[in-house]
Amino acid sequence: MSFKIIGTGMYVPEKVVTNDDLAQIVETNDEWITKRVGIKERRISETEFTSEMGAKAAQAALDNAGCTAADVDLILAASVSGETVSPSMACMIQNRIGATCPALEINAACAAFLYLLDTAAAYFALGRYKKILVVGCERMSGILDWSDRGTCVIFGDGAGAAVLEQGSNYLDVVCTVKGGDDVIKIPHALGCSPFFKTEQDTPYIHMQGQETFKYAVSAICDDIQSLLDRNGLTMDDIAYIVPHQANKRIIDFACKKLKISEDKMMVNIDKYGNTSSASVPIALHELHMSGNLKRGDKLILTAFGGGLSNMACLIEW
Ligand code: UT7
Repeated sequence: MSFKIIGTGMYVPEKVVTNDDLAQIVETNDEWITKRVGIKERRISETEFTSEMGAKAAQAALDNAGCTAADVDLILAASVSGETVSPSMACMIQNRIGATCPALEINAACAAFLYLLDTAAAYFALGRYKKILVVGCERMSGILDWSDRGTCVIFGDGAGAAVLEQGSNYLDVVCTVKGGDDVIKIPHALGCSPFFKTEQDTPYIHMQGQETFKYAVSAICDDIQSLLDRNGLTMDDIAYIVPHQANKRIIDFACKKLKISEDKMMVNIDKYGNTSSASVPIALHELHMSGNLKRGDKLILTAFGGGLSNMACLIEW
């Protein structure tokens, strides 16, 4: 017993920040960002907290599935940019949408939505729950160093969600973790203990761009190929790939290496940038809303990021 996806939803804040707008803040330009990353604009929250965006995406997914908060048996949420460590974003979302079920948060950075799906599959296998709500929500703008042009131009804010119901459409998953903080890290503020003598890093995203790029390219290619091989499939059997939206060049590289036709790749990085755990569910929702998905289509979802953690799964729509 695993699950099928019965509804999707997303929410992004109203404020659009263009590459030209960013050129007023750091030394950058539209041409560099467009060419090197593929982003034209991103949404940035001016007033909304992470859990508010998460709750709006969750409610949209419930509406899309024809459910109410009372139908949900478990909420799994992910974020690296919540307004609180405790309560978790899952508990805040539970409260905001008026649900009464258990709720817990999982941290796997940009790969987290895939971890939510895998955790949900494990809960469904226990047979305890009928419907699980999964939400990735981020206010990345709050954890960026706005003087670092290598990171502040690539992220955006938003949330994506899906409603899962018992079913058998989660077909396979591959997962790799190479733990360590040398390539990507987001340190917490370490507090003001008079006893703690260690130097602190700023509580913002620190990323070795090129190292991350190399890791991301091999993660996305290896994970897609593994899922195809393990399941005796070729790309002809796959209707769409929904990749983490980190850099259009990473996606293009995977298309070239694995000979994937570009129209099978869901790409919306130009509009939202990298929204970390929200990126895959936002892309999935937009693919769903495009009307192009048919029941029975096979999809691969794939994501990679801090941890370093990468995961990909094969699902049937
Ligand atoms: O979601 C988690 C996973 N994250 C990722 O997968 C991100 C992976 N990494 C990347 O997408 C890319 O490495 C970046 C977009 C972060 C950076 O692009 P890059 O092509 O690797 O640039 P670079 O760091 O090698 O820098 C190339 C040049 C440098 O100038 P010089 O030294 O050649 O003169 C940088 O200073 O580009 C410069 N540069 C910029 N120029 C204009 C770096 N950032 C910018 C900028 N605007 N924003």
